[in-house]
Amino acid sequence: MIIAIDGPSASGKGTIGRAVAERLGYHYLDTGALYRMVGLQVMRQGLDPTDEAACASIAAALQPSHFKDEELRGELVGGFASKVAVLPAVRIALLKLQRDFAGQEPGAVLDGRDIGTVICPDADFKFYITASVEARSQRRHLEAPGIPLPTIRAEIEARDFRDATRATAPLKPAHDAVVIDTSEMGIEEAVGRVMGLVGKR
Ligand code: CDP
Repeated sequence: MIIAIDGPSASGKGTIGRAVAERLGYHYLDTGALYRMVGLQVMRQGLDPTDEAACASIAAALQPSHFKDEELRGELVGGFASKVAVLPAVRIALLKLQRDFAGQEPGAVLDGRDIGTVICPDADFKFYITASVEARSQRRHLEAPGIPLPTIRAEIEARDFRDATRATAPLKPAHDAVVIDTSEMGIEEAVGRVMGLVGKR
């Protein structure tokens, strides 16, 4: 059983994905963290995030266990992540890891940008979690109150634009995804919607 959850930054997809996986006893993968790990290494090594061969060799040698959650968060690393994420060779280097993860028993929940469209096009369930840019900026602002709201909004818009307009695996709902807008919805309600649909099967 594979549940694909895609959507833009701060839409709630990670929190929803984690909660659904926990309730079902499934494995959970935040695929954004993989791109963030590549972005962080590119940043730390002073590499050019448009150098496809260099970024792909970092992705191919990725050891996810070497990274701590807290060093991956933040918009600086997120920006690097979305720059390396436009490179087809980086995406290919991360493909097998994600598909292997998705194949685990008894089931897996993966969240990202292209899970329902590219990584697991045959997923049993596909959700596209979204929210207005205002709501998403407010959420990030609550997490990082030191950064002015207009700065956060501009960063989110720049990343959304890069993710949605790239040629390879752009951010978009799969044609068969259930779209959930969380602008005015709490996490519990959103998790309830997902569980309601999954439970019917
Ligand atoms: O936490 P947030 O939603 O802000 O971002 P994330 O899920 O950690 O992803 C960081 C960046 O990685 C995104 O902006 C995308 O550019 C890229 N990404 C991707 O291209 N494909 C995925 N499946 C997941 C993330």
